[in-house]
Amino acid sequence: MKSPEEILDLFNTKKIDKDWSFVEYKPSDTGKWTHDYHRYPAKFIPQLVEKLIDEYVSEKVAHINDPFYGCGTTIVTAISRGFKASGTDINKVSYLITKVKSTPIDPDYLDKKINEFLSKEPLLGGIQKILSEDVIQPFIPETHFERINYWFTEQNKIELGKILRVINYEDDEIIRNFFLVAFSHILKNCSIWLQGSTKPTRDLNKIPNKPFDAFKRQLTKMQKGNNAFYKTVPKKVLDNLDDYLNIKIDDAREQPVGDATVDLIISSSPYVTSYEYADLHQLSTIWLDLAENLKEYRKEFIGTAYKMYETRKVRSKIATRIVNEMFDISPKMAKEIEAFFIDMEEVFDENFRILKNGGRCCYVIGDTRLKGVDILNAEVFAESLQYSGFKVDRIIKREIPLKILPQKRDEETGRFASNDNANSEAYPVEYIVIGLKG
Ligand SMILES: C[S@@+](CC[C@H](N)C(=O)[O-])C[C@H]1O[C@@H](n2cnc3c(N)ncnc32)[C@H](O)[C@@H]1O
Repeated sequence: MKSPEEILDLFNTKKIDKDWSFVEYKPSDTGKWTHDYHRYPAKFIPQLVEKLIDEYVSEKVAHINDPFYGCGTTIVTAISRGFKASGTDINKVSYLITKVKSTPIDPDYLDKKINEFLSKEPLLGGIQKILSEDVIQPFIPETHFERINYWFTEQNKIELGKILRVINYEDDEIIRNFFLVAFSHILKNCSIWLQGSTKPTRDLNKIPNKPFDAFKRQLTKMQKGNNAFYKTVPKKVLDNLDDYLNIKIDDAREQPVGDATVDLIISSSPYVTSYEYADLHQLSTIWLDLAENLKEYRKEFIGTAYKMYETRKVRSKIATRIVNEMFDISPKMAKEIEAFFIDMEEVFDENFRILKNGGRCCYVIGDTRLKGVDILNAEVFAESLQYSGFKVDRIIKREIPLKILPQKRDEETGRFASNDNANSEAYPVEYIVIGLKG
């Protein structure tokens, strides 16, 4: 086992490995297949997942897991290779997105369904007419009426409500969910949410997109993605998707799989007090009626500022030092950081349980700085993995090409800020921390 000092030294002397920067890839590569169905903060690029699989899976049959699947980059990649894919995310919107992204649909059938939705007349005279005339009541979830009024103009609220009503008429769940993902994706641009902001902020001068036009464009884009994905996924998976895809809305500490059944884990965890995922997805959450109580929902997220433990202690000594250093500056933030690392140590225990002997877990993670204190996430992960039973197998240091992630964080709050406003470098580099079982 490596001591905390050895771990710190390992990171200090690590050189950037250019093979893992993927600078040569264009948005059309990183957004290929279904990868571009829905925006998602801090998603990683499929090329990174593909390279990890290439390096660590030599068998034709494999099981890949991601305890924080987010918008499903690992899951989609595993399915594209004909592997089993499993995992969890606590975010209900993530589940919908990932499920749809990893479910290839027969292109002819999808084409028929989209045409039916957009132009044919099976429902009340066709969608165009439905939207332009008062022949259908908009479907606006009552529980979130106030929030919807807060984020949407009256006209867009009605138009979105009508689209949602017609989506809900669709009997085929796979197609309905496909439409719901397109609907969810357009919400931000159709609202007065401040463009480009990862914080829930209104822009009263914004001219929001027109819902039906935006919806049509998104469907067309997704249809192309689906058709390319359908061609890629092996037939055995197309015919028996349920045998391959096993994803749940659940906590990362409860994987829906048996002991020693997984070959490789590829994941990127949340960060402490950076994105509040529950807030970020609130437009989808309210329209799709996914959480009754947003406040309670937030507490289930790892890395949230809404959680702290009174009595439990973190195992990592590097983490303890960070928490102590922060305690003098902000006891509240110190507690949040401690809670985050405690939660992550439990996730690593669960990773160890599900991996086969010889299996690896790979965490893509960057270090950051909060209130002047270095938060050495990657170093803590490497140390903590050992207490769960892993050997530190490999550390990869990689540059993050500018176009892929926001680069700056606000040093005061730790949240992502626009590049002009931020006063600290966020992720000029990040690490892939790889633990080996056995
Ligand atoms: C960095 S993102 C993962 C992004 C993912 N790699 C992708 O490519 O889309 C971290 C994810 O952790 C999820 N998360 C937060 N707390 C969780 C918990 N307790 N259990 C499972 N997932 C959680 C968030 O909802 C978010 O989707």
